[in-house]
Amino acid sequence: MHKKNKVGLYSLLTNNILINNFLIATGLDAKKEMSVGQWRSFKYNSSSSLQQNAGFSHTDEVDDAIEKVKNKLKEYLKVHAPIGSEILDFGCGPGIYMKLLSNDYKISGVDVSEGMLETAHNLLPESKLYLGNFLNISFKEKYQAIYSISVLEYIPVSKVDDFFKKCANNMKEKGLLFIQYPHALKKIDLFYPDRNYINYSPAFISKKASKYFTVLENKQSYDGRETCEFDTQPYPTNSKTFKNGYLLVAIKK
Ligand SMILES: C[S@@+](CC[C@H](N)C(=O)[O-])C[C@H]1O[C@@H](n2cnc3c(N)ncnc32)[C@H](O)[C@@H]1O
Repeated sequence: MHKKNKVGLYSLLTNNILINNFLIATGLDAKKEMSVGQWRSFKYNSSSSLQQNAGFSHTDEVDDAIEKVKNKLKEYLKVHAPIGSEILDFGCGPGIYMKLLSNDYKISGVDVSEGMLETAHNLLPESKLYLGNFLNISFKEKYQAIYSISVLEYIPVSKVDDFFKKCANNMKEKGLLFIQYPHALKKIDLFYPDRNYINYSPAFISKKASKYFTVLENKQSYDGRETCEFDTQPYPTNSKTFKNGYLLVAIKK
């Protein structure tokens, strides 16, 4: 059997609805986490753009959808974070969003991948960068805002509550949380078919976030539609296109 087929078979046997739900129910999904390991082995490719290194193509559709999220982030920060405030980028990758905001704010980044942080450091030598899993790092500061673009899908289901708690604990009173994530696009996504890339249900995310935050919006990040458990009208080009994403914006209670 070819190595590629063996890997495919292994992943089919260890990452499926039955196994994943058993692991989630027992809290073992966080121990058998695969996505963090995959990001740790990331190597920067100098012939690709920063956006491509972060995992996104440059089709008009993707560029347009990313631009919308960047503008929303800037708009929300303008209202909820005074110029000069300390802000944290969770899963900062190569630092694209940090660069965007670096003239107005003191931005720190956290990422599990050394390669990503090296790239972010080259882009922003002055900024504070933390290497490691966000859930395990002790941050010195309390942030005025924490944002994250396309990272929630790598947080294990049994750790989602811890994730929101950690965000709240590391934020100032009335701090802003801005999370862009790929939401559930099919009913089957609600049963966690892929532990490496979890399309969370917006209803589940609202419920979890509401424990620590007042939710201002939880909507489709490109067109502002609101769906509940899963999206019945996803964009058809490619299910993983950035255009198929959701945006949670919330204020610390
Ligand atoms: C799809 S990339 C997005 C990068 C960046 N946010 C952007 O949009 O340009 C996801 C990033 O999240 C990081 N990541 C995944 N799980 C993480 C975790 N538990 N703690 C910190 N970083 C994490 C990965 O290393 C990777 O750099």
